[in-house]
Amino acid sequence: MKRSIYCGDVGESNIGKEVIVCGWVHSRRDHGGVIFVDLRDREGILQIVFQPENKKVFEAAQDLRSEYVILVKGLVRYRPDGTVNVNISTGKLELVADSFEVLNTSFGLPFEISSYNDISEELRLRYRYLDLRRPNFQKNFIMRHKISMEIRNFLNEEGFLENEKPFLTKSTPEGARDFLVPSRLQRGDFFALPQSPQLFKQILMVAGFDKYYQITKCFRDEDLRSDRQLEFTQVDIEMSFVDEEDIMDIIERMLARILRVLLNFEVKIPFERISYSNAMLRYGSDKPDVRFKLEIEDFTHEFKNVKFSVFSSAVLNGKVVRGLCIPKGANYSRAKIDKLTKFVGNYGAKGLVWMKITNTGAESNIVKYFKEDEIRMVISKLNAKPGDLVVFLADDEKVVVQGLGALRLKVGKECNLIDKNKFDFLWVVDFPLMEWNKEERRWQALHHPFTAPKCLQDSIITKENVGKAKARAYDIVLNGVELGGGSIRIHKSDAQKNIFDILDIAEESIKEKFNFLLEALSYGAPPHGGVALGFDRLCALILGEESIRDVIAFPKTQKGIDILSNAPSQVDGKQLKELGLRVVL
Ligand code: AMO
Repeated sequence: MKRSIYCGDVGESNIGKEVIVCGWVHSRRDHGGVIFVDLRDREGILQIVFQPENKKVFEAAQDLRSEYVILVKGLVRYRPDGTVNVNISTGKLELVADSFEVLNTSFGLPFEISSYNDISEELRLRYRYLDLRRPNFQKNFIMRHKISMEIRNFLNEEGFLENEKPFLTKSTPEGARDFLVPSRLQRGDFFALPQSPQLFKQILMVAGFDKYYQITKCFRDEDLRSDRQLEFTQVDIEMSFVDEEDIMDIIERMLARILRVLLNFEVKIPFERISYSNAMLRYGSDKPDVRFKLEIEDFTHEFKNVKFSVFSSAVLNGKVVRGLCIPKGANYSRAKIDKLTKFVGNYGAKGLVWMKITNTGAESNIVKYFKEDEIRMVISKLNAKPGDLVVFLADDEKVVVQGLGALRLKVGKECNLIDKNKFDFLWVVDFPLMEWNKEERRWQALHHPFTAPKCLQDSIITKENVGKAKARAYDIVLNGVELGGGSIRIHKSDAQKNIFDILDIAEESIKEKFNFLLEALSYGAPPHGGVALGFDRLCALILGEESIRDVIAFPKTQKGIDILSNAPSQVDGKQLKELGLRVVL
């Protein structure tokens, strides 16, 4: 190695000793005849001093510019009194350059590495190698590495075997569009990049591997968001001879260990479990952020016979009435309340009913339609205080759930109710097995079609009773983000075929797409189940980053483009010809 130590690792034990450091010129300052360079490497920043007494070195240092790559040899010493920099780990020390070598120069930069001005994401991603040089990014990627090491260590100790799934494979129904790869050898046929290793990990269980894991890329052609990328990484796990609790226990211990070892943060396990229906009712979401309470309350029953016909006729028509208390919202102006109404309108709500809570009861133009004890009931159920604003939606259940769920999050953020230093995990369980797709008039799996149902009273699941069936599935949620999900799988071929039938997957399609799975399940498949965590999401949450793009070295832009390498791009005609393809736009 050219270096003897990283800049960021130089400490008091190096005082008076000679070291060799290599890195990038973060900044250069001329101070009354002395040149200071902040030299940066992966581990941190070290101040280098070029003294005029060392004439040749001093003169050469005048040509140093930002992001030049240099090697410096010299003695470490304490900085003079009053010049300590408390913001960096080496802030008490400096290196007096004895000699140095310029290993490479750099053009003038498109943006400063050392300052954090608002730079467009497009520019940052175009010069991602410069962007990634920023100390906060270096910290993110060192942490990402440590998290993956901790996961591997934990799973290896627990007896899991790492195995790789193929990337060139067949489509699996994870719910998104596939990325297709044309085959040259089988012209006209296509591989699909895996949306997850789902079927392969199940087949590894049939093969007797017992405990499998993989930290692997998955591909989904879906619209991008701050927590979604076209290619992302999953921590994928599958186990044989287990029940739900065994898998949840592994994940809980793994996450608790990551936080303990890497952040010195203790989380209590087991994590809270909440049923899907309760999550939708109380938080208006299947991934509730429980860092703040602010729960939604149902008033459908209580408002059945009230004089206020918006509520009573909604209930009569099979709709629901639910409410939320906005702390200190009574001072909201009409314009602000109108904005809230518009906000819930985005979710299909036709209006927002509100009351301002006062010392004597409530105020609003609809209070007159309510009896005193009805107002008291509202105040007590929502635990509202004078000065609060209570709001209600009366609509189809889906509209009310989505509207109030979104409003709850908005209020949580705007009223600063969210403690950013918390890690609040919870499991959502008891999902319905399937949901009815109104447009297509057919059942569809809420997770994926390989999820085992919880036993129904009358045991065999049919199209008639499937609406009542719950899934042996579980989602793990961290601070309101869906971190992962999994299930106990169907391990018998007949039962799997029955589910395909209920999903109205045509016989031909079953044969074409899933025959290999059905066959595998008929050769002594063990009971098995698993889970997958979104690794990018986990890293972003641990690092407190808003977007997974900040923990992925080379993410795609919002438009799904890799600006750095300019992909996707057109390919030449010869390649298309070999594949038997023609582009028709
Ligand atoms: P699921 O589809 O829920 O389950 O995916 C598991 C987790 O992967 C993460 N994730 C994503 N992260 C970034 N960008 C995306 N586009 C994206 N899509 C999903 C989420 C999600 O919770 N095979 C099943 C798991 C199983 O049953 O074992 C599966 O893939 O954090």
